[in-house]
Amino acid sequence: MAFFKSRSKQKAGPVDRDHLPRHIAVIMDGNGRWAKRRGLPRKAGHKVGAEVFRTIATYCKDLGIAYLTVYAFSTENWKRPQDEVDAIMGLLKRYLLEAIDTMAKDNIRLRFLGDLTVLSPELQELAARTNAISATLDGFQANICLNYGGRDELLRAAQSFAADCVDGKYQEDALDSDLFETYLFSAGLPDPDLIIRPGGEQRISNFLLWQCAYAEFVFTETLWPDFKKEHLDAAIAEYQARHRRYGGV
Ligand code: IPE
Ligand code: IPE
Ligand code: MG
Repeated sequence: MAFFKSRSKQKAGPVDRDHLPRHIAVIMDGNGRWAKRRGLPRKAGHKVGAEVFRTIATYCKDLGIAYLTVYAFSTENWKRPQDEVDAIMGLLKRYLLEAIDTMAKDNIRLRFLGDLTVLSPELQELAARTNAISATLDGFQANICLNYGGRDELLRAAQSFAADCVDGKYQEDALDSDLFETYLFSAGLPDPDLIIRPGGEQRISNFLLWQCAYAEFVFTETLWPDFKKEHLDAAIAEYQARHRRYGGV
């Protein structure tokens, strides 16, 4: 039906490198289905998905994107079978060990959004090491959302602000958007301009609920392990064909 036709898809052309989104966020979805279609265990999909993350992060850096934020593990993903959770944490460990060796050379900063205190002490220590290295760098930044939930982030922010009010640091009417954002995991980051969800689902799944207020969304059927640079180019081109109005005219 014409009513549901996407206009922007028809207008999207090649990527305009002079008008790139500053911040791209990705809900890396579809690893399990990718594996299932091949008769493989779900963890095989996560392994390929982790490699795709490396490729896409490097590509974003080369394009000149300032920030890439990826949803790697949600506050709800603990519901999955233990062996799948263990496999994801194992991949994370491997990735962090590799990052510690290469991030300074590549000038890639890493930041984690989410409550890491429930991760193993070993993973927390590796994350702390990548944070320390990141503090010495000034290049492209990849933000990895880990044990992240948008509602969890908002509740923590509200609790922290309330605690500061009790401590006499603020009066409750001091709270505005700028102050509230300082309590979020994403404090100091610009909002995402473009949020991409591969994997065929058209939902937000508790990702960046505050920060997505004026993001442009691109949903694609491609499963994350099949996601290539060309898919990112297509999403950026679609973004560039849109007209952001922010409530204006
Ligand atoms: C995304 O892929 C990765 C995580 C949520 C950790 P899924 O594992 O959700 O893959 P599908 O959606 O089941 O195919
Ligand atoms: C969102 O994917 C979380 C991540 C990609 C880490 P899910 O697969 O968990 O989302 P639902 O369950 O389909 O909403
Ligand atoms: Mg999924």
